Amino acid sequence: MNVLLVGSGGREHAIAWRLSQSPRLSKLWIAPGNPGTAPFGENVDVRATDLDGLVALAQRIHADLVVVGPEDPLAAGLVDRLAATNIPAFGPSGAAAQLEASKAFAKNLMRDAGIATSGSATFEDAGRAAAYVRDVGHLVVVKADGLAAGKGVTVCDDVAQAEAAIDAAMRDRAFGAAGARVVIEERMFGRETSAHAFTDGVTVRHMPFSCDHKPVFDGDRGPNTGGMGVYSPPSWLPERVAEAIRRDVTERTVRAMADAGTPYRGVVYPGMMLTADGPRVVEYNARFGDPETEVLLPRLRSDLLDICDAVAHGRLAEVPVEWDDRATVGVMMVSPGYPGTYPSGAPIEGIESVDEDVQVFMAGTARDTSGRLVTAGGRVLCVVAGGTTVAEARERAYDNVQRISFEGAHYRTDIAARADEALTFPVPATR
Ligand code: GLY
Repeated sequence: MNVLLVGSGGREHAIAWRLSQSPRLSKLWIAPGNPGTAPFGENVDVRATDLDGLVALAQRIHADLVVVGPEDPLAAGLVDRLAATNIPAFGPSGAAAQLEASKAFAKNLMRDAGIATSGSATFEDAGRAAAYVRDVGHLVVVKADGLAAGKGVTVCDDVAQAEAAIDAAMRDRAFGAAGARVVIEERMFGRETSAHAFTDGVTVRHMPFSCDHKPVFDGDRGPNTGGMGVYSPPSWLPERVAEAIRRDVTERTVRAMADAGTPYRGVVYPGMMLTADGPRVVEYNARFGDPETEVLLPRLRSDLLDICDAVAHGRLAEVPVEWDDRATVGVMMVSPGYPGTYPSGAPIEGIESVDEDVQVFMAGTARDTSGRLVTAGGRVLCVVAGGTTVAEARERAYDNVQRISFEGAHYRTDIAARADEALTFPVPATR
């Protein structure tokens, strides 16, 4: 099969690596890819937001399948554009991708389908939104309705912070058009986990649970990022609660999307919070998580290309989707200043000295004119190690992180440090 993979992050490096292991792959193209994807196929300089360019490329290479990594081209309707030219794609239609691209759409779907989430209200007027947070009587989270590269969410400690977040999103347009509408949610407290699944719209195949660490500094301090590190599986997640999430959230969501006339194909990934009242959806993502993919795909025993192809053709029930029971931990190394402004072009040293079975997934990296590997983004690379336990995988990941360097490199030192800590409160599986 000729396959086009869209994207350029650590997620796409991991996907390219696993697609390249399929005996069914003839050739892989990656648009635009990064130095990590280059060994697995041909990187082509077409950006993930250039829908015309991507459709033209897919036609030129006679793609049998297009695998879409990031959310922006999904929300912009890339899968629909490809379908119009009879090119199968792995990923939801533009209408189905609203599950991630509009927080208000997701809230309405959850309300109608009886899927547990926090209470919320949606506003298109900043004055009314501010009056609401002053009157509502509980702490809130202010979310830009649209896609904002993981930056449109403010978890507020008081009313003043909520008012400032509303101003930033709605008046200052800090997230562009994504902030024209805001969703204001009741703030939840608990522990978070990512619940990924493959679906072809009918069949759902769950992946192992994983846990991202969003804030930039140790102890969950500082601003949110795209994700600073991740582990899988969370041993603290009770199986009865995991089963309730699979059944009452993920599978119910897929059915609700079909019932709403927006059947969903691809990866669906509800971000969950385990609260004292039960598991609640924090948000949906319409694609593989990043960095979750970097710790999930090393655990996949089955052929990723078979799965993606089956999803695209509505045949997921026919292919095996099996996982090994190893633990994996990924630590993200980022540029100094990220998630704010950061330099680029710093030489990256030491990758050749990591252990053979440890993976270094490239994200914001590039080759300079002399072919040296240099930094070229906020999140630079993700070091992933496996082990029989999360603690063992964690120790190996950090041992290898210390062999890699670039000027000002920052990483959290507490990724997966609390992975074995039991929950301090009982979580009912249902409300
Ligand atoms: N892990 C966060 C995300 O992929 O959005």
